[in-house]
Amino acid sequence: MSIKKVSVVGAGTMGNGIAHVFALKGFQVNLVDITSEFVDKAFLTISKNLDRQVKKETIKEEDKTNALNNITKVVGVENTPVDSDLVIEAIYENKETKIGIFNIIDKLIKADSIFASNTSSISITELSANFRPENFIGMHFMNPVPMMQLVEIIRGYSTTDNTFSIIKELTLKLDKVPVEVYDYPGFISNRILMPMINEAVFALMEGVASAKDIDTVMKLGMNHPMGPLTLADFIGLDVCLAIMEVLYDGFNDTKYRPCPLLKKMVAAKKLGRKTGEGFFKYDK
Ligand SMILES: NC(=O)c1ccc[n+]([C@@H]2O[C@H](COP(=O)([O-])OP(=O)(O)OC[C@H]3O[C@@H](n4cnc5c(N)ncnc54)[C@H](O)[C@@H]3O)[C@@H](O)[C@H]2O)c1
Repeated sequence: MSIKKVSVVGAGTMGNGIAHVFALKGFQVNLVDITSEFVDKAFLTISKNLDRQVKKETIKEEDKTNALNNITKVVGVENTPVDSDLVIEAIYENKETKIGIFNIIDKLIKADSIFASNTSSISITELSANFRPENFIGMHFMNPVPMMQLVEIIRGYSTTDNTFSIIKELTLKLDKVPVEVYDYPGFISNRILMPMINEAVFALMEGVASAKDIDTVMKLGMNHPMGPLTLADFIGLDVCLAIMEVLYDGFNDTKYRPCPLLKKMVAAKKLGRKTGEGFFKYDK
């Protein structure tokens, strides 16, 4: 099966990035969200991000024009085109809502198309149980999608080798690097990243060092581009906590217990950059 038409459901941070990379590589992309305002905003973001690439001379003006021409705006998941070869779901991280979306598109879209979710932490096996589980897979893109090379490709319990190899080939066509991952909590990226961030919060809570110094150790000592607490602020402390809870529940292992300081900061709505304050302060 050759994938030509891709529908991206959810045109937020990740959805507009995913639509951007597919459209730039010549795929027909349907960009789907709840309202025309959301879809228009995503289209504008893609256009601005393409402009930046033109300025940097990584693409030509005509590449930008072609990419934008490859995108069709769609309002309402029930209007997702029937002939989509691949549907990538990128709505917010909530299992029930995601299952609701797949329930709608499963009844709409042709039987041999592939379903993918960009979830950061929800089990692909659980999401896919009722909807063509053999043709269901995780495509975990990284933020910002046009810049980041990695795509974790997550095999649910029933994902076939055929589905996996189609998605792996597709990822290579996007000039991204696919990594094959089996479906366990946090996949690889968050299973390793989030406990590191959580441990940095424990170190802060226990007064081992200041937030700035904890980040300096990891930046200068380990050559990380960003310290773990700065990164947590960037990701959002609520997102970090939710993923720690997925790890804790999924493994039933106390080594994944979320740090009480992380919980307290989320309760206080100090969520990082998006609220102007997390471990550090930001101009609003
Ligand atoms: N932000 C990140 O850094 C990041 C990285 C990797 C993976 N993810 C995962 O990607 C997914 C999306 O995250 P995001 O940060 O882009 O979220 P976001 O909140 O920026 O965007 C979600 C979009 O989905 C839309 N949406 C909600 N319900 C919908 C529906 N019924 N039909 C159509 N559209 C609907 C919203 O209007 C919104 O535009 C999540 O599963 C998240 O865990 C996020």
